[in-house]
Amino acid sequence: MTTPQTFSQDTLKTLVGQAALHYVEAGGIVGVGTGSTVNKFIDALATMKDRIQGAVSSSEASTQRLRSLGIPVLDAAQVSSLPVYIDGADEIDGKGYMIKGGGAALTREKIVAALAERFVCIVDASKQVQALGAFPLPVEVIPMAAAQIARRFGQMGGTAVLREQGGQPLRTDNGQHILDVTGLRITDPLAFESEVNQWPGVVTVGVFAHQKASICLLGTAQGVQTIH
Ligand code: 5RP
Repeated sequence: MTTPQTFSQDTLKTLVGQAALHYVEAGGIVGVGTGSTVNKFIDALATMKDRIQGAVSSSEASTQRLRSLGIPVLDAAQVSSLPVYIDGADEIDGKGYMIKGGGAALTREKIVAALAERFVCIVDASKQVQALGAFPLPVEVIPMAAAQIARRFGQMGGTAVLREQGGQPLRTDNGQHILDVTGLRITDPLAFESEVNQWPGVVTVGVFAHQKASICLLGTAQGVQTIH
């Protein structure tokens, strides 16, 4: 029997970030997400930078970190497919459906994930949920539509708040705004994602159901568990 150990959340992030290296193909290009867990993966990826062609990045922040460690960053437009995309999540359920966008990078994350054959999600156990919806749902919106979209979430029983940074509405890497929506019950993530995505002014909804995780590397007290 394995004795559970006490790992800090930061250590769990490091462990899953390192474990994700196993899915990176030598000689290939890897899709890279955004966030504190992905930063651990990027640090680990630097140890094999001479064995990959480079990375396609999902944010300016990840691009900066990749380049600072000497990992070439390729434009997504130059790539027709990727063997794997590695990213974190704010919530993940037992089917691999996720909420993402806590770091405001959800649109580019979905774009890069869509290029990939496999989505490997790296999370510590605090992100595992029975049903999505406790984490405020990020939705990237065109600024002129924000109030209209907030009202639509209100009609669904949710409360949408414009995300701010330094007292101003946060601008994403794409120059748009983020609404964070609480109070939703996301019982059918596939249908929910399809519905919200077609509202005028929605750029991307932070439910990743159509592009769910293929594999989840979960950092637990017992070590890294691989969930297919
Ligand atoms: C960024 C994301 C991140 O993957 C998500 O917020 C998790 O981040 P962290 O690893 O820092 O907890 O979706 O837009």
